[in-house]
Formats: sequence, structure tokens, C-alpha cells
Amino acid sequence: MSNQAGSIIMKARGLSKIFKSGREELHILSNLDLDIESGRSMAILGASGSGKSTLLYILGGLDRPTSGAVSFDGEPVFGRNEDELAAWRNRSVGFVFQFHHLLGDFTALENVAMPARLSGLAPEKAEAMARPLLERVGLGDRLSHKPGELSGGEQQRVALARALVMEPRVLLADEPTGNLDAKSAQVVNNLIMELVAERNLAAVIVTHNHQLAALVDKPLELSSGQLRASNI
Ligand SMILES: Nc1ncnc2c1ncn2[C@@H]1O[C@H](COP(=O)(O)OP(=O)(O)O)[C@@H](O)[C@H]1O
Ligand SMILES: [Mg+2]
Repeated sequence: MSNQAGSIIMKARGLSKIFKSGREELHILSNLDLDIESGRSMAILGASGSGKSTLLYILGGLDRPTSGAVSFDGEPVFGRNEDELAAWRNRSVGFVFQFHHLLGDFTALENVAMPARLSGLAPEKAEAMARPLLERVGLGDRLSHKPGELSGGEQQRVALARALVMEPRVLLADEPTGNLDAKSAQVVNNLIMELVAERNLAAVIVTHNHQLAALVDKPLELSSGQLRASNI
């Protein structure tokens, strides 16, 4: 298993996604190819409704393509049944959404530990994995806070820590700063870029944030179901 910076960890080939809406067919992704490399970041830009979230969900195994294939480490992602897909997702990809999706009744530490708990680890072990990550995102003094007691930027930093607790090789982020003020967005953007480098992550980031798009290795634009280089 190659994990050098620049080695291809995920490949999408001939991806198409068609949504049926009444009698109409919406062709959202059309024969799309993508290589995702370790230690590299890419941004996906594009108009609202162009299919950015759909593409990210397929890459993360949250949705299936109508046709085409995705491979991870050379293995086909969609050859798995739903249980296997969920286990693969928990282990191999970290997902950050626009809205944090943290569990309101649980502390920051418990939220970050959750993927490790779901993988079967005891609470102490899972929390021992979560603690250093919360410290890394600057929230070592907020371990016992619940999401409602944190600012929007802090909530997203907890979500980022949770996405990385299983040490995934791939980070997928869907407008991770879309709901933040400019200053909090900058903190989250910088953290994402630092963590990509430190952890040799392959990152695919859907964003409208030009500051973030300017930081990534490869800015791409999704339009008419296809990806092309963006000249942002
Ligand atoms: N489950 C679904 N059923 C039907 N249409 C959908 C579904 N999910 C998304 N769409 C449509 O697909 C298009 C792309 O959606 P999306 O991937 O969320 O776009 P983006 O993230 O770029 O704004 C939109 O027009 C949306 O309405
Ligand atoms: Mg979207």
C-alpha cells in the first residue's frame, strides 16, 4: 500500500449520477474521472446545484453512482454491501459537512471519540485518541463543552477533529466554512491545510471560499457534470 505524497489513493472513473424527478431525468454527473492523491488538496468550485455535494457523497460512499466506479487503494468501493461500506467509511474517509452534525447531548471529547467508539473501542481508549486531536485544533480547554456551548468556528474544529480521529487517508469536506464568519473561516481553512500536510491526507474540499481555493494544490470547477481546471 503506497502512502507517499503524490501517490493516487482514490480513483473515480466514468462516474455518472442521474436523479429521477417525476418523468424527468437530471444528469448531474456525466462520465467524470478524478484521481485523488495523498498529501494533496483539491478544491471543487461550481454553481449551486452543479453536483458538488453529490460528487463528494459518492466519493465518501454515502451515495452510489448511477454508473462508473470508485476505487480506494485499488479496491472497488461499491463492491461492498451497506454494512461493509459503512465500516470502510468509518475507517478510511473523514467527512466534514457545512453544518457540524455534532451530537448535542455529548461533549466535544465524546463527539470526537464517537467514530472510535463505533468501531468497537472502549470509551477510555477512544477518548485517548480524541484528546490529542482536540488539542491540535486548539480546543484542549473545551473538552467538556457541548456543541451548544461552542462558537460556530469551534464547532467546525470539533467536526474536523472527529473526521480525523480514525486516521483516515482521505478528508472530504463539503463547504466546511460556508457557515462561518471570515475570521473563523480563516482559522478552519488554515487548520485543514496544515493537517493535510502533517497527516499526508488526500483532501477534496467543496468550497465557495476563495481564500481556501487559493491555498489548495488543485482548484477544479464542476460544471455540466464534468470537472475542469479552475482559473480562480
Ligand atoms: N436525492 C435527490 N433526488 C433528486 N434530485 C437531487 C437529489 N439530490 C440532489 N439532487 C439535485 O441534484 C443537483 C445537484 O445537487 P448537489 O449535489 O446538492 O449540488 P451542489 O452541492 O453543487 O449545490 C441539484 O439540482 C439537486 O436538486
Ligand atoms: Mg452542496
